[in-house]
Amino acid sequence: MIDIHNHLLPGIDDGAADMDEALALARLAVADGITHLVCTPHMHPGLYDNDRAAIEAALANYRAALAEAGIALEVAAAAEVRFGLEVMTGATGGDMPLLGEWAGCGVLLLEFPHTEIPFGAERLTGWLIDRDILPMIAHPERNRDIVNDPHRLTAFIEQGCLTQVTASALTGQFGERTQRCAEHLILTGQANCIASDAHNITNRVPCLGRARAQVDELAGAEVAQALCLDQPWQIVAGHFAAG
Ligand SMILES: [Fe+2]
Repeated sequence: MIDIHNHLLPGIDDGAADMDEALALARLAVADGITHLVCTPHMHPGLYDNDRAAIEAALANYRAALAEAGIALEVAAAAEVRFGLEVMTGATGGDMPLLGEWAGCGVLLLEFPHTEIPFGAERLTGWLIDRDILPMIAHPERNRDIVNDPHRLTAFIEQGCLTQVTASALTGQFGERTQRCAEHLILTGQANCIASDAHNITNRVPCLGRARAQVDELAGAEVAQALCLDQPWQIVAGHFAAG
């Protein structure tokens, strides 16, 4: 399987605290059947001021440590970009690490606040789409406005935005309402990918296997494979082409 949203790069956000934890997380991912993983550290101005150079440096260190430890996990890096006007400057300046490509457009992993969909958010997503950058909305099932009314997502999907559902939301880790919302998004064809959003080895691990098995039961093996393997790969394959 392919994990396209997680915080395994050590020491640059609220994910893996150090290289030891990052390596332990990688071992968990491999044991779960993950072969390729795109690390997506937060880019959140004022909180996690990561830029492309910092992320690339952390990736180089992580790749070297994985090789030294003999862990067979292919890693690349992009970012989870916080909703805000800075996205516009970053996108036009070409300084926003993209998750990959879909239908000839770039894909940007975009995070809304967990409490709400910001007023006017459709304008920003539309602005990006006009510039051939498709926002992939991170974990919509954990956004309070969407949990309360899943139709709040419709405008974004009609624009062409992609969505990523969290594996551990499907297995109930974020509560029953979030789980029901995640299932609803999958059953109504409003989910494009499942990813771990892993942060640590205690309660936010990089595992997709249990969620895939649940989607298998919920919506069938074809949907499970599309969400955990085929569609994520289609988006991020370019990161791994050279390697
Ligand atoms: Fe995340």
